[in-house]
Amino acid sequence: MKMSLFNLNDKVYAVTGASGALAGAAARYLAQSGARVAFISRKQSKLDAAVKGLGPEVATFPCDVTDRKALKTTLALILERFGRIDGLINGAGGNMPGATISPDETVFDLDFNDYEKVLQLNLSGTLLPSLVFGEYFAECKQGVIVNFSSASSQQALTRVLGYSNAKAAVDNLTRWMATDFAQKFGDGIRVNAVCPGFFVGDQNRSLLLNTDGSTTDRGRQIINNTPMGRFGDAQEICGAIHYLLTDASRFVTGQVLHIDGGFGIYSGV
Ligand SMILES: NC(=O)c1ccc[n+]([C@@H]2O[C@H](COP(=O)([O-])OP(=O)(O)OC[C@H]3O[C@@H](n4cnc5c(N)ncnc54)[C@H](O)[C@@H]3O)[C@@H](O)[C@H]2O)c1
Repeated sequence: MKMSLFNLNDKVYAVTGASGALAGAAARYLAQSGARVAFISRKQSKLDAAVKGLGPEVATFPCDVTDRKALKTTLALILERFGRIDGLINGAGGNMPGATISPDETVFDLDFNDYEKVLQLNLSGTLLPSLVFGEYFAECKQGVIVNFSSASSQQALTRVLGYSNAKAAVDNLTRWMATDFAQKFGDGIRVNAVCPGFFVGDQNRSLLLNTDGSTTDRGRQIINNTPMGRFGDAQEICGAIHYLLTDASRFVTGQVLHIDGGFGIYSGV
C-alpha cells in the first residue's frame, strides 16, 4: 500500500472538542503530521493550552457545537484562514451526572433535564456541525466526517443512560448520513465513526481510578472485560482517525471502527 494513500499534506481538518483528551490528541497528531488543523471547542483558554507548542498550521475557534449560527460563523472563519476544509472530526461530547444512574438509584431517579442536555451535546452536537460543514462538502463534492461513538452505544453499560442513548443515535446518524451523502452528492463524501473503549480522561478518571492511581472496582470490571487487559492511551486513537480521514479508506463509509482492546467483541467468558 503506497504511503500517498495516507497523505495529510495540504489537508485542512476541523476538529470539535479539540481541547479534550481524545479529540485533542487526534488534532495535535494531525497538525504534527503535515495537516493544517482548526481546533474548535467552547473555551478559548482551553484551546490556547491545546495548541501550545504547535506552529502556524493550527488555529483556534471557540464555538459551541450545539449553536448552529456560531457553527456557520466558524466555518466561514476557517475558510478565511485556511482556504479549504477537507474533513470534520466531531469530537465534542461527554456525560453529565444527572443523566447517569448511580448504584443506589433506579432509572426512575433520572434527571430528565440533564438527560436532554446530554442528548443535545452528543447527538445535536454531532448532527449540527455535520449539517453546517456537510453543506460545504456537498458543494465541493468532497469531504470526510469522523464521529465519536462509545462502547456504550451498542451494549447496555450500567449507569450511563443518557450518554448511551445519544451515542447509539450517533452510530445510526453515521450510517444514515453516509448513505444520504453518497447517494445524493457522490462518493467523495464519507461519514464514519471511531468507537473508543475506555481511555482515562478528565471526565471518567474518578470512575476508573482511585486518587492513589489504583483501579476502581468499575475500572477493574472493565479491564477484566477487555481482552487486552488495559485502558487505552489517547495516542492510540490517532491511527484510526488518520485512516478514516485519508484516501486509505476511500471506499469505506458508514462504519463504526472500534478502538477498544477488544472490549466490544468479548463475551466475558
Ligand atoms: N475518553 C473516553 O474514554 C471516551 C470513550 C468513548 C467515547 N468518548 C467520546 O470521545 C469524544 C472525545 O472524548 P474526550 O475524552 O476527548 O472528552 P473530553 O471531555 O476530554 O473532551 C470533550 C471536549 O468537548 C468540548 N465540549 C464540550 N461541550 C462542548 C460544546 N457544547 N461545544 C464545543 N465543545 C464542547 C470540551 O470543551 C472538551 O474539549 C467524546 O465524544 C466522548 O464522548 C470518550
